[in-house]
Amino acid sequence: MKTAVAQTHMTDKEWRGRDAEAVSQVYSRYSELVIVEAEGTHLHTADGRDVLDFGCGIAVTSVGHRHPRVVQAVHEQVDKLWHTSTTAYHTKIVETAERLVAITPDGLDRVFFGNSGAEAVEAALKVARRSTGRTDIIAFEGSFHGRTYGALSLTASKSKYHRGVGPFLPGVHHTPYPYCFRTCSHAPGEPCPIAAGKYLDDMFDLWVDPESVAAIVVEPILGEGGYVVPPEGFLQTLRSYCDRYGMLLVADEVQSGMGRTGKMFAVDHDAVKPDIMCVAKALGDGLPISAMVARHEVMEAWHAGEHGTTYGGNPVACAAALAVMDVIEDEHLLDRSARLGTQIMERLATWKDRYAHVADIRGRGLMIGVEFMEGATPATAFVEGVRSDAIERGVLTLACGRDENVIRLVPPMTISDADLDAGLSMLEASIEAMERKS
Ligand SMILES: Cc1ncc(COP(=O)(O)O)c(C=O)c1O
Repeated sequence: MKTAVAQTHMTDKEWRGRDAEAVSQVYSRYSELVIVEAEGTHLHTADGRDVLDFGCGIAVTSVGHRHPRVVQAVHEQVDKLWHTSTTAYHTKIVETAERLVAITPDGLDRVFFGNSGAEAVEAALKVARRSTGRTDIIAFEGSFHGRTYGALSLTASKSKYHRGVGPFLPGVHHTPYPYCFRTCSHAPGEPCPIAAGKYLDDMFDLWVDPESVAAIVVEPILGEGGYVVPPEGFLQTLRSYCDRYGMLLVADEVQSGMGRTGKMFAVDHDAVKPDIMCVAKALGDGLPISAMVARHEVMEAWHAGEHGTTYGGNPVACAAALAVMDVIEDEHLLDRSARLGTQIMERLATWKDRYAHVADIRGRGLMIGVEFMEGATPATAFVEGVRSDAIERGVLTLACGRDENVIRLVPPMTISDADLDAGLSMLEASIEAMERKS
């Protein structure tokens, strides 16, 4: 798609050349686009292209790029106060904490703010150890919790994140996630033994003393690991183990939270109440803010100064988060996310019949994953081909999963029906083009 947006004097390619000379190339980019401006669902590039954003900057700009109410709130705050750190109190952090307490599950009533998802996870790990006096942590294969050392010690979605940078936090134990399409051997429709706790039982019988475990950390829907919705009952199973052994349940809602799944948080679908929740990404619609929300009994184990941050809970980021929560409520975006999710699923229902490579379609609300296979082999190159072709046509999608063979559909909750239809049509055309080639 071409656009009327003013072009910069340099092309995408020229900017990428400058990037290579000055910016660390450790960032793994999902596309070669160079974005100079964005609005709602539309990305505008230095080359003057207009591309639909079905990735939301990795599930961040959920109310759309530069939602006018977020822009206004940020402008107003910048004109008043933009930094205090812990030199003083400020009002926006109080209001944001109160709002988060109101929207998170019952019992979560104290908030620690950071700037990124990983910082929220780090804080959760530390407060879990501090409040239980225990050392060990249980995490899941396929999970992604961030790249700082604590968070990375839990992350198990790709070994390259661990390459050459160990050793990692001791006391972390991984166990399979119920990814029934790929990792379970039970028949479709049969109860999933992993979701029922089979491997946790083995772990607690054979090599981990449950009394030494501070927390189970779980993504209620696996994000980077492949947009995997666990079978019903899985989160309740984890809750029951935590209750039995005095462990804390930490829900990492960094990717699945803030309305993305059609409810405010993914755990709300199962009415499971975690002891700690990590929120980030969509909370600030792109302004850096994250939150670790915990029960006060847990949070009060920390005494002043035992943990902290210079920028976390910054007034401008808080103003953005407050505006995001207003927008979600006033524009009824939970309903919209659920409704558009159903609409997409209805449209995708024919894909498995129409496209030989489409093997599994799953998701909740606007957190949808489409897994591509070539027989029993993950169709990684096929997905790369589809995504590249789709970008040429005018829609940006992201891949995920251990083999990068899952296309995730994470458009903004504010996407117009026309943009949604256009983006899906382009994606269908790209899948058809790749099927013809293969
Ligand atoms: C579930 C989950 N937790 C934590 C993180 C880490 O967040 P950040 O990249 O902001 O540190 C991510 C990032 O993708 C995530 O998806």
